[in-house]
Amino acid sequence: MTKIAIILGSTRPGRRGADVAKWVLDAASARAGVEYELVDIADFPLPHLDEVDLPSMGQYANDHTKKWAAKIAQFDGFLFVTPEYNRSTSGVLKNAIDYLYAEWNNKAAGFVSYGSVGGTRAVEHLRLISAELQMATVRSQVSLSLFTDWENFTTFAPGPQHADALNALFGQLEAWSTALEPLHA
Ligand SMILES: Cc1cc2nc3c(=O)[nH]c(=O)nc-3n(C[C@H](O)[C@H](O)[C@H](O)COP(=O)(O)O)c2cc1C
Repeated sequence: MTKIAIILGSTRPGRRGADVAKWVLDAASARAGVEYELVDIADFPLPHLDEVDLPSMGQYANDHTKKWAAKIAQFDGFLFVTPEYNRSTSGVLKNAIDYLYAEWNNKAAGFVSYGSVGGTRAVEHLRLISAELQMATVRSQVSLSLFTDWENFTTFAPGPQHADALNALFGQLEAWSTALEPLHA
């Protein structure tokens, strides 16, 4: 069965990303024929990139890299849940992406972003990063605003319109994740 990881890209204490990822995972549980799994980067503590060889060489020396690579290798596609930090994605997500190479290649990627202005600038950067790693990024995305999708900036209450956008994203991501399976099998 096609497997898609929902990658939670923030690790900050009090992070808003945890509620967003849970919302995505809950909605994904209604999808038939595809398996979704939450992958929380906080569960894979990675120092600043500390591998001697380039990731594209696939010669991982450190246990934390091997553990991260083994997890990411399990999936056919990725749904990145990203905050916007200083007009980009989080440093922790970029670092986690940088660690690997082949494990990302020839797979599909989609994005749910959030931030003061919806996180779309983080997604623009992630689309460029994905291109370098040979991930095919789907068009549909979900953009959540701290001003309108949270009550008092603390309680997550996404507008009803986001459910349709999320379903469109699921549909595109599932189709491309499945279609690309022969290329990375
Ligand atoms: C270091 C930092 C930089 C930020 N920069 C931006 C920004 O450039 N644009 C924006 O819309 N929000 C920005 N924010 C607001 C975050 O998007 C918002 O706090 C969000 O909740 C962060 O995700 P997290 O709670 O999961 O860590 C920034 C927050 C942090 C901590």
